[in-house]
Amino acid sequence: MSLGKSALRWIDDRFPLSIFIKNHLVNYYAPKNFNFWYFFGSLAMVVLVIQIVTGIFLVMHYKPDAAQAFASVEYIMRDVPLGWLIRYIHSTGASMFFVVIYLHMFRGLMYGSYRKPRELIWLFGVLIYLCLMAEAFFGYLLPWGQMSYWGAQVIINLFAAIPLIGPDLAVWIRGDYVVSDATLNRFFAFHVIALPLVLLGLVTCHLVALHEVGSNNPDGIDIKKNKDKSGVPLDGIPFHPYYTVKDLVGVVVFLMVFTFIVFFAPEMGGYFLEHNNFIPADPLKTPAHIAPVWYFTPFYSILRAIPPMFGSQFPGVVAMGLAVLMLFFIPWLDRGAVRSIRYRGLLYKSWLGLFVIAFLLLGYLGVKPTSVWGQFGGWLGGADRAVVVARFCTLIYFLFFVLMPWYTKIDKTKPEPERVTF
Ligand code: HEM
Repeated sequence: MSLGKSALRWIDDRFPLSIFIKNHLVNYYAPKNFNFWYFFGSLAMVVLVIQIVTGIFLVMHYKPDAAQAFASVEYIMRDVPLGWLIRYIHSTGASMFFVVIYLHMFRGLMYGSYRKPRELIWLFGVLIYLCLMAEAFFGYLLPWGQMSYWGAQVIINLFAAIPLIGPDLAVWIRGDYVVSDATLNRFFAFHVIALPLVLLGLVTCHLVALHEVGSNNPDGIDIKKNKDKSGVPLDGIPFHPYYTVKDLVGVVVFLMVFTFIVFFAPEMGGYFLEHNNFIPADPLKTPAHIAPVWYFTPFYSILRAIPPMFGSQFPGVVAMGLAVLMLFFIPWLDRGAVRSIRYRGLLYKSWLGLFVIAFLLLGYLGVKPTSVWGQFGGWLGGADRAVVVARFCTLIYFLFFVLMPWYTKIDKTKPEPERVTF
């Protein structure tokens, strides 16, 4: 027996390595009609690993101290060998994580991947998304620039809008009356250890649930319905080597885009790294325009679109929270006869299209000041155009969910094929 084989045998006698590889890679059958939309799950795993590895190296030189944090990041950028590279990979990774996740989620919406029996895969996914938003928010305070500081101030102040407990809650979150060293320390703890652990646990659950029921596919049909004599799905192929190799192609293309950004456009015109964050935090000087990073702006727009009530921003905060929570209910809101967009009718396609346009517009408007498009004249005199458009988009955003049981049910669907198509 070769050395490799006997080593594997030695391990197998003590740990189920071969069985694991067999069950989850070689004998795990995935639908053979996956398209490029199925790259984003493995890409999300790649970005997660990139973030953890570069994060470890950043922590070696970063100082979680309000008096030193900004300077320690500059030290990483200028003096630590390859520090600039590690930092740019991490900052680009943060934005690219959201690009990948948004595309991954959109794929789920298109192909009805959240529907029975994949509800839990989706629910774990939404929890991952929430966790990722918290991870990005905490991480953003660490460079202690003007945007870090004032962004955190604005978001934490939103909690203060909650009736009765709000003001105390905000102090509890900050550990102080303003964002300060205490806030920086706890955000650091959450960013480098608490949330990454939760994230890893959730991703594990996401994948365990996926392997329990098997992947959906662009046709949205069940490949387990057609099996050969030995019980192998006729429309399935072994994950390894077919999809390990295919996913590798996706990874290579992705890394080409990723490294291009890292080397040639790490700030991405102020979208990946905001200009104001190259100025050290100054608690006495509020920047003229505070906007969160692009991946939060659709929700920030919803917050700004809802008018305050009795001088309180609470209704906006509720709307913003609900906007994210709605995602949890999709598996039970969708009453369609088919899963995939390929066999849905015009009604579903139109609503999904409107939802995407509304989400993108909200994202765009959230980056800009509300005065970006000027003001309406006439009977709407005085109203900011951007605010009115954001209100309309917010309405569409929520109607997409609220009306889903209705339009998916009456939608004229096409018959699904027996076997997968290409
Ligand atoms: C760190 C974040 C995430 C990682 C590493 C991850 C990983 C994966 C992987 C590897 C797959 C299988 C390959 C594929 O179908 O693309 C998958 C499938 C899936 N993921 Fe994620 N995921 C993440 C976040 C999310 C989020 C935020 C959602 C939705 C809210 C989600 C929903 C789904 C669904 C529904 C499937 C099944 C798709 C199908 O079978 O058609 N995932 N995920």
